[in-house]
Formats: sequence, structure tokens, C-alpha cells
Amino acid sequence: MNKQPTILAIDQGTTSTRAILFSAELKVLGMQQKSLTLHYPAKGWVEQDPEAIWCDTLEVCRRLLDSNRGTAASIAAIGITNQRETTIIWDRNSGKPVCNAIVWQDRRTSAYCEQLRAQGHEPMVSAKTGLLFDPYFSASKIAWILDNVEGARARARRGELAFGTVDCYLLWHLTGGRVHASDVTNAARTLLFNIVEQKWDDELLTLFDIPAAILPEVRDNAAGFGVTDRALFGREIPIGGMAGDQHAALIGQGCFRPGMVKSTYGTGCFALMNIGTGFRRSHHRLLTTPAYRLNGEMTYAIEGSIFVTGAAIQWLRDGLGFFQDVADSEALALSVPDSNEVYFVPAFTGLGAPYWRPDVRGMISGLTRETSRAHIVRAALEAQGYQTRDLIAAIEEDGNHEAAILRIDGGLVANRFMCQFLADMLNKPVEVPEVTEATALGAACLAGLYAGLFPRLEAVERHWRRASVYTPSMQEDKRARLYAGWQTAVRGLL
Ligand code: G3P
Repeated sequence: MNKQPTILAIDQGTTSTRAILFSAELKVLGMQQKSLTLHYPAKGWVEQDPEAIWCDTLEVCRRLLDSNRGTAASIAAIGITNQRETTIIWDRNSGKPVCNAIVWQDRRTSAYCEQLRAQGHEPMVSAKTGLLFDPYFSASKIAWILDNVEGARARARRGELAFGTVDCYLLWHLTGGRVHASDVTNAARTLLFNIVEQKWDDELLTLFDIPAAILPEVRDNAAGFGVTDRALFGREIPIGGMAGDQHAALIGQGCFRPGMVKSTYGTGCFALMNIGTGFRRSHHRLLTTPAYRLNGEMTYAIEGSIFVTGAAIQWLRDGLGFFQDVADSEALALSVPDSNEVYFVPAFTGLGAPYWRPDVRGMISGLTRETSRAHIVRAALEAQGYQTRDLIAAIEEDGNHEAAILRIDGGLVANRFMCQFLADMLNKPVEVPEVTEATALGAACLAGLYAGLFPRLEAVERHWRRASVYTPSMQEDKRARLYAGWQTAVRGLL
């Protein structure tokens, strides 16, 4: 049997669930993955089956352990990372969810959030949470469940129900219902957690009328989260790391110094800059969020969130049948010299940072009889560059640092056209790491830190390796002209 310690990372994302086994040197030893179905029961509603989330997680973990018997026997700890904000409420006795999970993309509480904003509460909420009123965050989703599932509010008050984001729900199941806990990065996305005082906030709980009895305990990102129930894997494995996926990716990308930025291109795109240990509010309607908390010390980040990036390319494949495989989008984009002034604003579920308009919807502009499939595909990929530029400019001002380079990860970074356009639009080098599974890697770093495999989090930085770099090569006048066209297109929606 291999005696080298290993780490199991669980990465429960919006569209798939992965289990990845890492060596103590943070090399990927094995991976198992399963797609997750999203349900759209009404316009603007996005749901998932919480039991499918749990069953898929267990299945990919078991498959991974089975296919790596030698190394898996020496797992030192498990790290969990997850799609954030997605809201689940379940019965503490049976473990059964009271309804489907309301996914972060769900817009059903737009009017409620707008009403709270109109009442003038946003400055208070932002000062405490670093967030804004948007249906994206968990609080309005929790309130919706308590108001709309029969008997839920009374049961919640009696302490019979538990709330959790996906990390917390998985932990609860992994520990056989023994631990109801979350970590600061996930708690910070609920709109109920005060990230300055680092506690659930009574004023916010009152505002959303949410009973404190349903909330989990909040821990550091590398901490004892309990052990797995023996019935699951035949033994107890410590759970030592937990972080929301974007925070985990910041760690996996080695962004430990103020000013370092990463951007992850999955379903959406989330750019985070490490801003150090002082809380600072954004002046551009970006979010302030914990980067991570270790031994009680919080490091903060400024975040720009775009809701639809990879999802737009998937839509071109599945909705419009433009190509068979997402990988084909690169050749199609390169088959034309430019997008022929077509702009694609993929606001399928509203616009996130820095606009925060849950009510607007997507648009393709500049269509002519000459417009081809390739132009539209190219415009969809170029939109990633424009949207990232919108974010990075604002992040740099808020973070008080200029980002010298951008480290990127996520499924879309396999698209070289997209990466080059990103570098050209930002006029900055864009680096792709060897391990593009930065999210899982971050969770593994946290679990390894808890298990004592690394002395400090920063020690994992020496394992970060660059696989490729994209250097800007576009002329300034062209960059300015293209970006001005994008700004005009977005203004048309606002
Ligand atoms: O805030 C939502 C985010 O955490 C989802 O990430 O990678 O599942 O699209 P992803």
C-alpha cells in the first residue's frame, strides 16, 4: 500500500460534480466527474435536486476511491468546494430537503430585493456584508422558501429545519448528520453574515425575517469539520478544508499577496483580487468578500461576478445547434477575421457586476445579411474579454492595486482564441496554470494545511506552475474601437 498521504477534493459546481485525488505535492492522481441537471420550472427560476447533488457527490467519491485503491487508502483529509449561494433547506431529522435547491442564478426574488433596496436598506447591508441587494445571494431565497413551502417558517422557528449552501449540505451528509457547519467564504454569500464582525448579524436576520435557529456554525477555511460517517467509505476520513469555489480558485492560483488576481471561466466568470487583511468597500458596485480566513485572521478580496460565460457557449451548442462540441467554437471563431461588428451580451439571467440589473436579458446586436454563425460564435467568445475588462478596471480602482497579470482557469481556458482576446482586451499578460482545476486544487490546499502537509498556506505557492502565457498583441486603436462598440451594446440594454 502507498503510504504517501493524499488529499481528496470534492468540487460540487453548478453543472457538474467532481472528486479529484491530489498527492501531497498537489499533483492530480485521479478524477471522477458527473454532470448535474438544472431545472427551469418557470421564467427566471433555476433549481436543482439536492438529493441528486448528494448522491452524485457520494458516487464520484466512491468511484475515485475504487479506481485509486493504493493511493486513496492514505487520504489525509478531504476538502470541499462548491457553487456558492445555492440555497438548500432540509429537515434535521430525516435529512430530506423541503423543496428543490434554489440555484444562485435564480431570479424569482428580484422584486423582493428591489423593494428592500427602495426602502433604503442597501448602504447598511453593504457595509456589513460587502454585498448588494440582488437575488443572487441566499437570503432572499431562504425567505422565499420559508414563505412558500407550507409550514416551513413554523418548523424553522422550532429548530426543525436546517439551512445550508451546498458545502454545508454536503458536510451534513458526509458526517452522517452530525455536523451543521459552513465556512466564512460561503457564509459571506448569504447576505446574513457580517464579514467585518465575522458573525451572523441580528439586524440582517430581522430584515429578511429569518430565524437564527436554521443557521450553521461558521468556521475557518482550514479547520476540523468532522469526519466522514464510517458507513460511507468504510472508515472515518477527516474533513479539513472548505471554501466557496471562487475563493478556492484564488488559493489554487496562489494569489496570496494583495494585488494578485484570478479569473475563473466556468458557467459564469468570477474575478477576485486579494486585497489583504483590511475590509474595504467597493466604489464600483463590486463585492467585498473573504478571500479566506485562517486561524481567525481574515484576508479579503474584491470580486467581480459575471453570471453567464461558458453557459453562453453551451447555449450556442445546445440551444442553437451551432456546433457539436464546445471545443469547435475556437476554429469557428478563427474562421472569420473579426465579428463583423456583432456584439453578444449574454445577460441570460440579468447583468451582474458592475451593472447589477437582474431585470435585463441578453442581446445580439449588429446583425446584417452577412452575419454568419462564425461571427456570432466569435462575438460570444469576445464577450468574455469585454466583460472581464469591465471587471478588472473596476477591481483595480477598488483594490488600490494594478493587476500586473491575470491568472485564469476553468473550462473555457482551453479556448486559445478566448485567452488571446482576453490578453488583447485587457492589454495584460494572461497566465494559464498547469493545473487548470484551480478550484479543486484550492480545496486540496486547505485540507492539506489542516492535515499538516504544509506549514502555511503560502507554502503551496511553490507548487503553482505556469503552463502558458498569452501576451497582448492588439493595436491600441483597435482595442479602443472594439471596446467602445461593446460599451454601446451594453448601454442599449440598460
Ligand atoms: O457564485 C456562483 C459560483 O460559485 C458558481 O461557480 O463554477 O459553478 O459556475 P460555477
